[in-house]
Amino acid sequence: MRQAGRSLPEYRALRKEGSILDTLKKPDVSAEITLQPIRRYGVDAAILYSDIVVPVHAVGFGVDIKPGVGPVTDNPFRSAEDLKRLRELDPFHDTPYVIETIRICVDQLDIPLIGFAGGPFTIASYLIEGGPSRSYQKTKRLMFENPELWNQLMDRLTAICTSSLLSQIEAGVSAIQLFDSWVGTLSPSQYIRFVFPWVQRMFEEVSKTGVPKIHFGVATGELLQLMSEVGADVVGVDWRVPLDLARSRVGDGKALQGNLDPAILASPWSAIEEEVLRILHLNNGHPGHIFNLGHGVTPDVNPEVLERIVQLVHQYRVDR
Ligand code: CP3
Repeated sequence: MRQAGRSLPEYRALRKEGSILDTLKKPDVSAEITLQPIRRYGVDAAILYSDIVVPVHAVGFGVDIKPGVGPVTDNPFRSAEDLKRLRELDPFHDTPYVIETIRICVDQLDIPLIGFAGGPFTIASYLIEGGPSRSYQKTKRLMFENPELWNQLMDRLTAICTSSLLSQIEAGVSAIQLFDSWVGTLSPSQYIRFVFPWVQRMFEEVSKTGVPKIHFGVATGELLQLMSEVGADVVGVDWRVPLDLARSRVGDGKALQGNLDPAILASPWSAIEEEVLRILHLNNGHPGHIFNLGHGVTPDVNPEVLERIVQLVHQYRVDR
């Protein structure tokens, strides 16, 4: 979880100024950025350096990423007219730089590469709100005021994200992750009505390829069961839900990912160590746990702390 591998000095040196969406269009640079944390940390998988708004940017919706803010648009989604700005994605034509970055990475990696897309709700929320939001008021208003238009918007975003994921798999990624980061703002009944059918469709299409599917969100404690049932193989858990409780909600035969609070990474090492060990202990040797942060690394995090966490997790053994 490094949407913010941005804490690495070698990242900042390569990335320089300007829009991240321009950096992503240079496959040699993007591949190098993908590999940087692998060299430094010795983690067990790599995640592609890209962004969840790349596909909607590529079809010409008109969205940028503002440093220190996130995805923004000057022309938010308001009416059926705006659907025209969400045509189908032809990944090999519209985002050839993503395909090329994956090929370079796969060639150089001896660990799995994870591809990803944004969940339709999360992307929709950026397009409707015009940027990050706390209340998602405009998004919810559209859902309830004009469910027909909401369905059409979700159809379009699902098609775009599905093509992106399928093309990344074709290019060589070993697993995919769906980042529906902000879906935790919904109640279970809102999730069932306004999100579930589309994410289910997306996972069904991806399942045909046989690659594992990871499903991520923040503050999703009350949605974990649904986020499992919708078709994921691995369900992300932030720090708000104890891992054993999360496992009971997600059900048998599935894996969990996460659980470390990224906001404690500036605390004393003894406290971080205790938290890491507590999580590993709660997992109790269960084979289905991808140790990870519950959300992204902030730029101020000391890379040495992350390095120590990786070592600690790798050295941990369960006494049985
Ligand atoms: O934080 C979230 O979960 C929100 C949604 C989201 C965004 N991008 C919007 C965004 C998610 C899940 C992503 C995914 C992402 N972006 C990944 C894959 C997953 C991961 O975390 O590893 C990656 C590698 C990126 C790349 C990325 N996008 C970086 C490194 C940055 C930061 C700074 C930069 O410009 O170099 C971004 C910008 C970005 N995208 C932000 C958000 C909320 C942060 C904007 C900021 O604070 O500067």
